Amino acid sequence: MKHELVKEILYTKEQIDVRTKELAEEISKFYETQEVKDNTVILIGLLKGCVPFMANFLNNFTYECQTEYMVVSSYLGGTKTSGEPKINLDLNLSIKDKTILIVEDIVDSGLTLDYVKKYLYFKGARDVKILTMLDKPEGRKVEMNVEWSGFTIQNQFVIGYGLDYEERLRNLPYVAICDTDKLKDWKW
Ligand code: PRP
Repeated sequence: MKHELVKEILYTKEQIDVRTKELAEEISKFYETQEVKDNTVILIGLLKGCVPFMANFLNNFTYECQTEYMVVSSYLGGTKTSGEPKINLDLNLSIKDKTILIVEDIVDSGLTLDYVKKYLYFKGARDVKILTMLDKPEGRKVEMNVEWSGFTIQNQFVIGYGLDYEERLRNLPYVAICDTDKLKDWKW
């Protein structure tokens, strides 16, 4: 049964599983060919949206890694970006000379990652790459190159598999287009 706010399911759990495994294998192999400090990649998940995708990715990623998290928010509960990312939870380890893979649920305007990437380089990271479950290139407000993405989507408001509307719906086991017509009078 799909949620009432779902207009259309874009990617099922099964499709996400297959694609995530593919990405994890590709990225594990990629780091085998790189010079990586301590042979360990630091995966940085941007909470909260990254959780289901990052967990899935971790189950399939075979290169040595550490997991860290940051809370960076730019959406204030609604469907539009506020355009001003803010770090609400910072890293508490040194990332000097480290190889970093940021794990995201979605790249839209690119403002969050632009900010985080610059911040991580400022903190001394050697290399910062981006893995995102969803890429929405039409939403870009800044140029942002994404090294790996699960799926490229159009300019639609998506929910589920980590993506929220008013902090809900992250638990849907699929990615769906939100029925935005219903949001105006929506009561939880
Ligand atoms: C969402 C998402 C990305 C960001 C993408 O986070 O997880 O971090 O927005 O948008 P952008 O490319 O336009 O910057 P949000 O601020 O909603 O926090 P959340 O992960 O807790 O949902």
